Amino acid sequence: MEAIAQDTNRLYDRLAEAIQEKKDLRNPLIEVLRIAQEIFGYLPIEVQEFIAEKMDIPASKIYGVVTFYNFFSMIPRGKYTLNVCTGTACFVKGAPRLIQMLSDELGVNMGETTKDGRFTMSAVRCVGACSLAPVFVIGEDTFGRIDNKDKIKDILSRYE
Ligand code: FES
Repeated sequence: MEAIAQDTNRLYDRLAEAIQEKKDLRNPLIEVLRIAQEIFGYLPIEVQEFIAEKMDIPASKIYGVVTFYNFFSMIPRGKYTLNVCTGTACFVKGAPRLIQMLSDELGVNMGETTKDGRFTMSAVRCVGACSLAPVFVIGEDTFGRIDNKDKIKDILSRYE
């Protein structure tokens, strides 16, 4: 238990350093939040309150920014983000069915993280691979024309 507390303290120390470093930028908050998310993996209320205190900004303002930008997350993210394209071409070619299959396989809905912490599933707009519709993306890898569960199982198993 003590070790975990020490690790957490170290993360807060890193964040405090980053705030110190960035606080003179013209608009430091977004940059500080980005770094905080990099350090903690997500932005829980405690982290937001820490930033509020250190930067002397109302916590409500920080909460407003965090919830405004999709990029920021208040729930722990998985090791990999699985982005399903919901652009027009993908939608027409079966994105809803693909989402259903992924959701069944992973046991999560859009925006949620799998129990084992491997994947967070989210939706994105056209990723520029319409000829492969329907498409999903994990990291730098794009997968297209996915029409059955066996293909999905095979792909997911490559991500440890
Ligand atoms: S609409 Fe999905 S890649 Fe373009």
